Formats: sequence, C-alpha cells, structure tokens
Amino acid sequence: MAALKPPPRILFTETQIKQRVAELGAQISADYADKDPLIVGILRGGFVFLADLIRTLTIPCTLDFIAVASYEVGARASNRSPRILLDLREDIADRHVLLVEDIVDSGYTFDHLLQLLRTREPASLKVCALLNKPTRREVHVPIDYLGFEIPDVFVCGYGIDADERYRNLPYIASVE
Ligand code: IMP
Ligand code: MG
Repeated sequence: MAALKPPPRILFTETQIKQRVAELGAQISADYADKDPLIVGILRGGFVFLADLIRTLTIPCTLDFIAVASYEVGARASNRSPRILLDLREDIADRHVLLVEDIVDSGYTFDHLLQLLRTREPASLKVCALLNKPTRREVHVPIDYLGFEIPDVFVCGYGIDADERYRNLPYIASVE
C-alpha cells in the first residue's frame, strides 16, 4: 500500500462548512421556489457537499448525477476535455438544472459540462460550487452559488480527494 502523505492542515472546519452550506441552501431555496429544480451532483468529489446541501433545501426538487474524470491518474491539473464516465439518467429538456461541484479550478470541467448540457435545452442551467480557486482559472465559468474562495492550494476532505485519499475527512484541509 502507498505511504500516506503528512497530515492535512485544516482550512475550513465542520462548523464553518455547515454554516456556509446552510446559507447557500437558503439562497437556492428562495431562488428556485416553484421551479422544481433538478439538482445534478458531479461525481465523485461533489458528493458530500451535495448530500449536505440538499438537506438544507426547503423546496421540491429532484436529483441526478453525472460522473466526470477531470484528471489523468496521478495528475494535479485538469484535462482540457474532461471525460463523461456516467451520464445523467434524467431528460433535462425544459428543466431548471443546478450543477453542484466541489471545486472550480482551471474551469475546464464546468465549461465542458455546461456546453454539453446546454445542447439538451434545459429551461435554465446554473452552477453551484463549494470552492473556487480564481487564480487558477483558464476559461471563464459563471459561478452562481459559491461556498468559499481559496488560494492556489491543493485541498482534500469533505468528499474531495488527494490521490483518492482523505475523502472521508469531515473538514476541508490543504495537502503538501
Ligand atoms: P477544473 O476542470 O480545473 O476546474 O477542475 C475541477 C476539478 O478538479 C474539481 O472538480 C476537482 O475534482 C479537481 N480539483 C481541483 N482542485 C483540486 C484540489 O485542490 N483537490 C482535489 N481535487 C481538485
Ligand atoms: Mg470534481
């Protein structure tokens, strides 16, 4: 088994995340009242955020998943054309779609997904991201709902991995 890296350093505690997720949920509930949105989780990194976020929503909604491989194995930078590993099950035509992602980094993953999903003619298509690294951006992505901005550090925890490790941490940490 590969040796584990040094212990991660906490960036956002469970309490801080919970508070911010509740604020996002309240905002989304207000904006999507009467819209019956389809919330789309981007696997795998976004799954913990999504699970917590939907439990703060006070409006009717449905849920779907899409799985994308942003990185080549072992890499720390996004592939320019991320691969769809698992497509949506729902037809999104005329639906109000909210994409939920862990991190916007270069922007390629979201840019690619937005272009793909727009061809299916949803009623609206918006983006919710837990973390944003603005200094890393290479393509513009409109982020409608954002948890936290972070500097150019590699993070893990709360569903987010570093070489597939640390997804189970309840907080968000930086890794060397
Ligand atoms: P982008 O295509 O460069 O915007 O990359 C977005 C994806 O890369 C995110 O959804 C994450 O899965 C992954 N990613 C970006 N930064 C980090 C990080 O610091 N830790 C772990 N995964 C990351
Ligand atoms: Mg991801």
